[in-house]
Amino acid sequence: MAAGVLGIGKYVPERVLTNFDLEKIVDTSDEWIRTRTGIQERRIADDHTNTSDMAYYAAKNAIEDAGLKPEDIDMILVATVTPDRPFPSVACMIQDRLGCRNVPSMDLSAACAGFMYGMITAKQFIDTESCKHVLIVGVEKLSKITNWEDRSTAVLFGDAAAAVVMGPVSDGKGILSYELGSDGVGGKHLYQEGPFLIMNGREVFKFAVRQMGESAVNVVEKANLTKDDIDYLIPHQANIRIMEASRQRLDIPEEKMIKTVHKYGNTSSSSIPLALADALEGGKIKDGDILVLVGFGGGLTWGALALRW
Ligand code: ACO
Repeated sequence: MAAGVLGIGKYVPERVLTNFDLEKIVDTSDEWIRTRTGIQERRIADDHTNTSDMAYYAAKNAIEDAGLKPEDIDMILVATVTPDRPFPSVACMIQDRLGCRNVPSMDLSAACAGFMYGMITAKQFIDTESCKHVLIVGVEKLSKITNWEDRSTAVLFGDAAAAVVMGPVSDGKGILSYELGSDGVGGKHLYQEGPFLIMNGREVFKFAVRQMGESAVNVVEKANLTKDDIDYLIPHQANIRIMEASRQRLDIPEEKMIKTVHKYGNTSSSSIPLALADALEGGKIKDGDILVLVGFGGGLTWGALALRW
């Protein structure tokens, strides 16, 4: 038995904000954004849709997809840096709204690596048989902490939610290896001050290129796999150049990397499960495929895992 994914769900707001729309808001261009980041458009939630609403929709879909009922969930973990408020947690808000039992529920703050932290935390409870079904949600309403006058950050982010239900799986499936880490020294490069997200893009870029590649290689080695075993790399969708660097470090062909950054931008903790959900909808991922998931984020934090689907 190992800990694997039993069901997946997503929610993206309807409103699309294109690079051309952004040209009217800040001094930027579609060409600059596309070539520097790979982003073409992103989704922005309306004023009535907060983080917990998006989390609820994605979670509901994931529980249904797993063929389960809310009362089957034994723990709720929500990865977010944009909760509705510091407390109560988004996890507690959706525990009530979904109609789950009074199970342990908490938010995890690890920025864009949050979903990796969530999945790997869930794995510990599943492996020890303390929990059977753990709901993990990655959700961000980054638009509410975006400074729409700062062109260096306003063009990067989007709103979204995605969720999985994890539980015991057999036949060699599930999480094969993982790694998590942090380096608070780099916290000064990406943080929230007052209402806004503030970032030193160049420093984050350097860190991300180094760490994403290294973590991806580490989990492949820890699982006794080779690059040829990898069916898909699903990196955090922050910037196509960072994603490409980790693909090249793994030395796998282009078609083996899942890309959604062009249509959603950087959705922080929801970006990896959202890319996974899209790849599954597109029929890309097959039973038994080997996936490598890798993320990095503010903290600084990082996390990666190898998984047999
Ligand atoms: N439109 C036009 N010009 C711009 C824009 C814009 N939106 N933003 C910056 N510029 C200008 C700059 O002012 C600068 O001009 P100058 O040379 O006259 O000073 C020039 O473009 C180059 O700026 P750089 O910052 O050097 O551009 P770079 O190639 O590094 O790209 C970027 C910037 C895209 C932000 C990149 O550094 C990056 O992707 N960094 C990582 C960001 C990231 O992934 N963050 C998410 C972390 S995850 C989390 O936890 C939220």
